[in-house]
Amino acid sequence: MDRIRIRGGNRLNGTIPISGAKNAALPLMIVSLLTPETLTLSNVPRLADVRQLQRILQNHGVDIMVAGKRPGQTAKQGDVKQLSARTIADTTAPYDLVSKMRASFWVLGPLLARCGEAKVSLPGGCAIGTRPVDMHLLAMEKLGAEIEIENGYVIAKAKRGLKGAHIRFDKVSVGATHAALMASVLADGDTIIENAASEPEIGDVAECLVKMGARIEGIHTATLKIRGVTSLHGAEHSVIPDRIEAGTYAMCAGMTGGDVLLKDANAGHLGSVITVMRRAGVAVDQTNEGIRIYRNGGALEPVSLDTEPYPGFPTDCQAQLMALMSMADGTSMIRETIFENRFMHVQELARLGADIHLHGDTAEVRGVKKLTGAPVMATDLRASVSLVIAALAAEGETMINRVYHLDRGFETLEEKLSACGADVTRISGT
Ligand code: UD1
Repeated sequence: MDRIRIRGGNRLNGTIPISGAKNAALPLMIVSLLTPETLTLSNVPRLADVRQLQRILQNHGVDIMVAGKRPGQTAKQGDVKQLSARTIADTTAPYDLVSKMRASFWVLGPLLARCGEAKVSLPGGCAIGTRPVDMHLLAMEKLGAEIEIENGYVIAKAKRGLKGAHIRFDKVSVGATHAALMASVLADGDTIIENAASEPEIGDVAECLVKMGARIEGIHTATLKIRGVTSLHGAEHSVIPDRIEAGTYAMCAGMTGGDVLLKDANAGHLGSVITVMRRAGVAVDQTNEGIRIYRNGGALEPVSLDTEPYPGFPTDCQAQLMALMSMADGTSMIRETIFENRFMHVQELARLGADIHLHGDTAEVRGVKKLTGAPVMATDLRASVSLVIAALAAEGETMINRVYHLDRGFETLEEKLSACGADVTRISGT
């Protein structure tokens, strides 16, 4: 298994290209199930999760081709993928594939909408919390599907097709909003989704669906209105930049000091993160090319906050902020409201010298003057990268084990950081 070795203490200076968003690319790939025509996606990040979803979609009969590079295109621009689901070969998503990646559960809605049936394994537990799917199932039932749970599988049927419905979610769920949206575009009649998640990645999927012929109003708001159509056609769509990757590198720059341009980052998607960085004493400028982050000498100020659905501070940046605050000049209180168990990074950050105390859903982070390198273990995607942030500022050497978690969501992390002067090396495992 690969490991990453970081020797801390170097300031970051330079440019970090921001990749396409994992959390948009995955549902966009799943959207291809809704049409027999070809969906061409560009700026697709090269990530382990994308490759895993590719295997799952191929199992359903989707042909996937990666287009060759066009003249002038660089490796930094992501892949162009052509996905064609001319016929759906199999409406079953088996346990051994779904259990490896939760997002693959989202095939349920499109398979039901296109084929009138789907059998999808329940995703099972997850390191960051229980993560139920009851709201996904409720949305499918509202749209007229009959749902049964049998032997760990959701068996959904809508023999006469899905029907438009009024769906009101009790809480904001990214996954359930994707499911309801992807299913309702091919339902018969009108659907309203109230209390929908308004994350930019959902807006990106909705915009792609519109290019494919779907009729959707209220994109980027909490109320989506969909008028069902009988079929969708092919389209071309570019994946939005990854706001979580951008937020993560912003914190790397804030942690080490220096001056970094996050090329192609979209400041419009990063309002809460930019506010927090500024409160922490890190300068943030929006430029034509992206976002510039710099801190020259000044102390890091403590920032207290709750994670929230968009446009609030994202749960996917909570661990990274905790790493940053571990060296702030004072105490920060960070409350996790989306997942009940998303604090595995606390014990690992403590190995580097962070002083963090958990009180239920809130972490009390008492800033320390210095961190020191140590062997640590990656536990989930965002937790792992919080260890990278801490290690960049820690004295001496940190060895991060189990980096396959990082590879799920960060494209060429060590290259991007090394190019800005960090001492980061991947050590290939046997
Ligand atoms: C969540 C995050 C998303 C992040 C992703 C991976 C939010 C609102 N969502 O999305 O930003 O990228 O994790 O870290 O910040 N829930 C139910 N029943 C359901 C579905 C969800 O009770 O059927 C609950 C979850 O347990 C959670 C909350 O609703 O407490 C939000 O879940 P949801 O947004 O669906 O999770 P993800 O789609 O995984």
